[in-house]
Amino acid sequence: VITKIKARQILDSRGIPTVEVDLYTNKGMFRASAPSSDSSGMYEAVELRDGDKGVYHGNGVMKAVNNINEKISEALIGMDPTLQSQIDQAMIDLDKTEKKGELGVNAILAVSIAACKAGAAEKEIPLYKHIADLSGGTNLTLPVPAFSVISGGKQAGNNLAIQEIMILPIGASKFDEALQIGAETYQHLKAVILEKYGAQGCNVGEDGGFAPNISSFREGLDLVKEAISRTGYNDKIKIALDVASTEFCIGTKYDLDSKSPNKSGQNFKSGEDMIDMYKELCSDYPIVSIEDPFDKEDWEHTKMFSSLAICQVVGDDLLVSNPKRVERAIQESTCNALLLKLNQIGTVTEAIEVVKLARDAHWGVVTSHRCGETLDSFIADLAVGLTTGQIKAGAPCRGERLAKYNQLLRIEEELGDQAVYAGEDWNKS
Ligand code: PGA
Ligand code: ZN
Repeated sequence: VITKIKARQILDSRGIPTVEVDLYTNKGMFRASAPSSDSSGMYEAVELRDGDKGVYHGNGVMKAVNNINEKISEALIGMDPTLQSQIDQAMIDLDKTEKKGELGVNAILAVSIAACKAGAAEKEIPLYKHIADLSGGTNLTLPVPAFSVISGGKQAGNNLAIQEIMILPIGASKFDEALQIGAETYQHLKAVILEKYGAQGCNVGEDGGFAPNISSFREGLDLVKEAISRTGYNDKIKIALDVASTEFCIGTKYDLDSKSPNKSGQNFKSGEDMIDMYKELCSDYPIVSIEDPFDKEDWEHTKMFSSLAICQVVGDDLLVSNPKRVERAIQESTCNALLLKLNQIGTVTEAIEVVKLARDAHWGVVTSHRCGETLDSFIADLAVGLTTGQIKAGAPCRGERLAKYNQLLRIEEELGDQAVYAGEDWNKS
């Protein structure tokens, strides 16, 4: 049973406070922390921040920490850690608000993850296996990693409006090989950027992708194409984009020059223009997936683009891992893949439920990190246990990103002959 819960404030990969929790059972101590982002949309679960401007610029999380140490721990002590849904429900009941803003999603999620780790230990099975049990699944699959290699948007100080260009080693035979391909390509890309933009171009964004001072999709894609051609893995690597277009949508138009001080506002694109541009990009480059190609409220163009069936269309800001928005998108055929961010929804149980919705609709599922991360590698086990087929955890660079990819190496090693790499089935969750 759960005997003690102790939370504290730590710093995430951006140097901003987040919540860490130590949950104790008779089997030992289980630690988890909450990821974070400042892009949290109005539909996401809500982080509790202290708001005292004199302390960490208002970003302290001591209220959330105290909610765990007092209210949550009082409610959960004595519970069986294998009963994940009851633990999560107890916190939801205690919070009483739809978006978990009372206790804070940062408090609730950290405890939910710690309890899940404790549940696995209680059953003396690996965490990914416990997660598979909780979801009623029997298969375990190593996901295809989507490595961020070029960063833009709000994650980087260059003029690129779109947030990420990613590479997917779909043609690898094992996760281990996928990581090698990703890391080698990343190093080739560094050399390509060094030649064209000098050492400054090799600075990285929050997720570890390079942030050379480019301003267009094509400039970035050409760099990546060149790096891939230098690896000799051409046929094994596909490309994905996270456009995060909500960030540069103004009214009904898209400003791809939003970050170029001299050009902002001069090159507005309509939804139809964007569709034409995506069509061209998908035929010129091996792009297999586009995330948030349109604003989170622009369901119409997202649907028009999805219906062309050119590539996987992933809803992140569009869906915010929220079952109501996912149900609506399934009904209206708005997109065909879910980006799963745990702190958008708030508990392990609810994450499992929303993945089931996506899977029943034959969607792809991408397990995802946030820009503010910690060394917690829970999402690696989650991706394997829920067989999501894809994981996006940033570049093959920086400790908080590698924490997830390295954990996948360990899981693959542990599964031995039984390990299955999603590979060509990457978008079949
Ligand atoms: P975030 O998003 O910056 O809001 O964490 C990351 C992503 O969409 O990849
Ligand atoms: Zn996104």
